[in-house]
Amino acid sequence: MEGITIALSKGRIFEETLPLLAAAGIVPLENPESSRKLIIPTSRKDARVVVVRATDAPTYVQYGAADVGVAGKDVLIEHGGDGLYQPIDLGIARCRMMVAVPDGFDYENAVRQGARLRVATKYLKIAREHFAAKGVHVDLIKLYGSMELAPLAGLSDAIVDLVSTGNTLKANRLVAVEHIADISARLIVNRAALKLKRGQIAPLLAAISERVAP
Ligand code: ATP
Ligand code: PRP
Repeated sequence: MEGITIALSKGRIFEETLPLLAAAGIVPLENPESSRKLIIPTSRKDARVVVVRATDAPTYVQYGAADVGVAGKDVLIEHGGDGLYQPIDLGIARCRMMVAVPDGFDYENAVRQGARLRVATKYLKIAREHFAAKGVHVDLIKLYGSMELAPLAGLSDAIVDLVSTGNTLKANRLVAVEHIADISARLIVNRAALKLKRGQIAPLLAAISERVAP
């Protein structure tokens, strides 16, 4: 496709990327929260935004259906990063990947005793690697959202999920017991597009990096 296509998810990634795109003179002409359109034109004729699920952004960019995109490090680890160049940590959508358990559950002791823990998560790869590195045996249960419910409903002993303010854990009487990784969103670029569309992509990267770390 002519020009550059930028893959963004609705919500925090879209909101927090807006000022960075503006620094490159790119202003989306519609708001994906109110519009049902999935291809949004911008103030620049040679740039458009495609609205994707957060977990799908790396896939669009990997296959070149979008030239650039924004994705959380959590999503990038789970995707694997094939075909993606990740030039800039944008420092947006900051949170932490944590292990959490019901308040009162003695996690340290359960681990010490070598108990086989049931862990519910959307982030199978991150969880698998984390517990393998610690030598802790776990049965992972794949969920697609609302991880905090799993221990309350008796589905699992623990969860691996993102924590920002900690309000969701608190509201569900869970406590974080282990920090796995600090998470923020990165700019991702299709490796072939970087070469073929260098004239458009290089100035975009320059404007964004200047805005991120002036
Ligand atoms: P999908 O809709 O595809 O299931 P999602 O619901 O996780 O994905 P968002 O909630 O928009 O999508 O989150 C996008 C990214 O923002 C996540 O991949 C993560 O990196 C980051 N993020 C998630 N939750 C928070 C939070 N509470 N505070 C800050 N950043 C967060
Ligand atoms: C994420 C994550 C947690 C919550 C943590 O969910 O899966 O449930 O945010 O944020 P907190 O520590 O600030 O409570 P999601 O993106 O679905 O929810 P949100 O948009 O309400 O943050």
